[in-house]
Amino acid sequence: MIIAQLSDIHANGSSERLERLDAVVDWLMPMQPDILIVSGDLAEDDFSQSYRAVQKRLEGFGCPYFVVPGNVDNHAEMRDVFGRRFGWSRDWPLNVSGVVGDLRIIGLDVTVEGAHHGDAAPVLDWLADELRSEMLPTLIFQHQHPFPTGIDGKDRNVCFNGDALAEVIESAGDSVIGLTCGHVHRALFTRFAGRHATMAPSIKKANMLRLDGRESAVVDPPGLLLHHWSEGRLVSHVVMVG
Ligand SMILES: [Fe+2]
Repeated sequence: MIIAQLSDIHANGSSERLERLDAVVDWLMPMQPDILIVSGDLAEDDFSQSYRAVQKRLEGFGCPYFVVPGNVDNHAEMRDVFGRRFGWSRDWPLNVSGVVGDLRIIGLDVTVEGAHHGDAAPVLDWLADELRSEMLPTLIFQHQHPFPTGIDGKDRNVCFNGDALAEVIESAGDSVIGLTCGHVHRALFTRFAGRHATMAPSIKKANMLRLDGRESAVVDPPGLLLHHWSEGRLVSHVVMVG
C-alpha cells in the first residue's frame, strides 16, 4: 500500500504555489497512491479559492485522502470546503480518521488558535478513544512536530506536550506504526515514542538547513514522502520534484 504525503502547500491565490503543487501532482499521478495525506498549511491566503484548488487536485487521484490544518490555515474556510467529507461539525479541532485496507489513518489537529506552535493536549482523549476502538496498524499525521529537529530556530514552534502524546501512543501497544508531520519545510527522519517518525518536505519553498550554527544555501525543490506499507513494515521514500 502506498501512502503519499504532501505538506505545506501554502496556496495563496498565486500561480507560483499551484505550479509547485502541480509539479508534485504530475509526478505522483502514475504512482497511483492508495491514500493521500496532507499534513497542514494547505493555504495561507485567498482561502476559499485556495482550498478548492487543492481539493480539486486531491480528488483527481480518485483515492481516499485526509487533511489536517496547519498554523497558517483558516479553520472555518477549511471546514467549509472539506467539512462534509470528514464530518467536521465545528471549527476546532479538525481531526480525521479512516480505515483503508488494513491500515488506519489518523490525522490530529494539534494547531493552536493564533499561534505557530502546536499542542497535543486538547486532542489526546480523542486519540486514545480512536486507538482503543479497534486494534489496527495506524499511521498518525499532524502538522507541528512533537520532537526536536535540531534545526536552529525551528524548535520553538514544536507541538507541545509531546511526552503525553508519546504516552498515549505507547499505551496502544503495537498499533501505531509511525507518526509523520510537516511544518518545518524539510524532509527528515527520526524516532518518536519508539516509532518511525518523519517530516515531509514542503510544496512551498524549503527552509534553510541550519545545524549547530552551520548552514548552506537552500537548493531543495518541492517534494513529497511516499510511505510504503507492506508485510508489517513501513518504509518512507523521499522524492524531490526538481
Ligand atoms: Fe506550518
